[in-house]
Amino acid sequence: METISLDEYLGREFQGVNPTDDFERDVNELTRGNYTTYASICEELIDLCQSPDTPCQSIEQSENELYEFVYSYPELEIFLNVKFNPNDAKSSIPFIQERLVGRETVLDLGCGNGLKTVFYALNGESRITAVDKSQKALDLLLKRAQRYGVEDRIELVNANLLEMDLGRTFDAIVAAKMIHECGDIRTVSHESNMHFKMDKIDLHLSPGGVAIITSGGYSIPYEVALLMSKRGFKDVNRHTIFKHGDEDQTIMGVVGYK
Ligand SMILES: C[S@@+](CC[C@H](N)C(=O)[O-])C[C@H]1O[C@@H](n2cnc3c(N)ncnc32)[C@H](O)[C@@H]1O
Repeated sequence: METISLDEYLGREFQGVNPTDDFERDVNELTRGNYTTYASICEELIDLCQSPDTPCQSIEQSENELYEFVYSYPELEIFLNVKFNPNDAKSSIPFIQERLVGRETVLDLGCGNGLKTVFYALNGESRITAVDKSQKALDLLLKRAQRYGVEDRIELVNANLLEMDLGRTFDAIVAAKMIHECGDIRTVSHESNMHFKMDKIDLHLSPGGVAIITSGGYSIPYEVALLMSKRGFKDVNRHTIFKHGDEDQTIMGVVGYK
């Protein structure tokens, strides 16, 4: 297993990706002409999100289609990371990693393509269980883990958090940029959607375990912190991980102990 600094790791992962201002042209190139699909899913998502009486199932369907599309083009996923949130990985990885020290077992919820997960495995001692509802995301994670020789330290689970019961608990739970996603077909309310997710986090966290949740903006972390406190989590705090211009570009973290 090689040791590698975060700068070196991200430099290697983002190599050759230099987004221009012409988003449409870039995406068109990366997806070899399938841009209309991506654009139409995004448009549908935006329309759905703006409608006050949105059936949540439709948002979930659109989100799922969007991820299936994005994860079909590994270069596109990296491009979107670099284009929209170049500072997220750089700032969130150290924020999360320092809170995983000494934690034997970690549950990484909505791990995506494993850009963050693989770095935790490379630079920590924990055994990591990585969950995503997209099998394509997990396939990408496995390839990335194999490139760095850490595949034995990461267990992959293809599951929807809202229906998940792994029958065991973990010393740390990480949910990076996933708690805000719809994913709930039983309710139209964003607030109760979060409530369901917090139930599952609670269910899988050992006593004394730490929950680390990151997200863009201010309102979602505020709701998450409130839900954690209501459940009796201790030392619940909101942190600004990276401050940049408007609210959406600011990356926040919520940390609480069970
Ligand atoms: C924006 S990506 C974040 C990926 C990664 N955690 C990161 O920080 O780069 C959100 C991921 O969460 C996954 N996801 C969303 N809702 C989920 C759910 N209910 N259960 C499992 N995975 C979910 C999506 O498939 C997607 O891969």
